[in-house]
Amino acid sequence: MDGIQKILKLKKDSAPHNFIQSIHGYIKEVMVEGFGWKYSPEKVGITEIWAIINKKNTFNQTHNHPNTYLSAAYYVKAPKDCGDIQFHEPNEVKKFRHPVIEKKNELNSSGFSVKAEEGNLLVFPSYLYHSVGKNLSSEDRIVISFNVDVITYKDAKY
Ligand SMILES: [Fe+2]
Repeated sequence: MDGIQKILKLKKDSAPHNFIQSIHGYIKEVMVEGFGWKYSPEKVGITEIWAIINKKNTFNQTHNHPNTYLSAAYYVKAPKDCGDIQFHEPNEVKKFRHPVIEKKNELNSSGFSVKAEEGNLLVFPSYLYHSVGKNLSSEDRIVISFNVDVITYKDAKY
C-alpha cells in the first residue's frame, strides 16, 4: 500500500471512540437492509480500524481484506481528483472469454468505481478486490477504514 497508515489509540469519549459508536447504526442498516443478514448487536464488532493518508501522486494497489465480512471507508478529506475507489469483478470466468462488448452493463462489467466524496461512508463486502486511483490533487486524501466481523458458531464458547 502506498499511503501512510497510522493506528488509532482509542480512549473512552475520545473522537475515535465516538466515531465508532456513531457508525454502528449504519453497519446494522447495511447488514439487515443491504445483505439481509441476521443482526445480533452483541456479535457484531469492528475488528480493525486505521487511517490512510494519500499524499499527491500516491495510490492504493489492488487488495482485499481477508478474515472479515465487511470493510468500509469513511472519507474525511476528499479533494477533487484525489482518486476514486475501484472494485474489481470477482468472477474470473467473466474475463476469460467473451465477444466484443458493445454496450456495458452489469453482466459484462469487469468492475466499477465509486467517487470519493467527503463525509461519505462506503461499506462493501471484504472479499471484493479493490484499488484506489492516484491522488492528482495537491491536497491529502484522508480516509478512515475499518473491518467489521461477526462472531459465528465457530467462535462461540457455548
Ligand atoms: Fe482496502
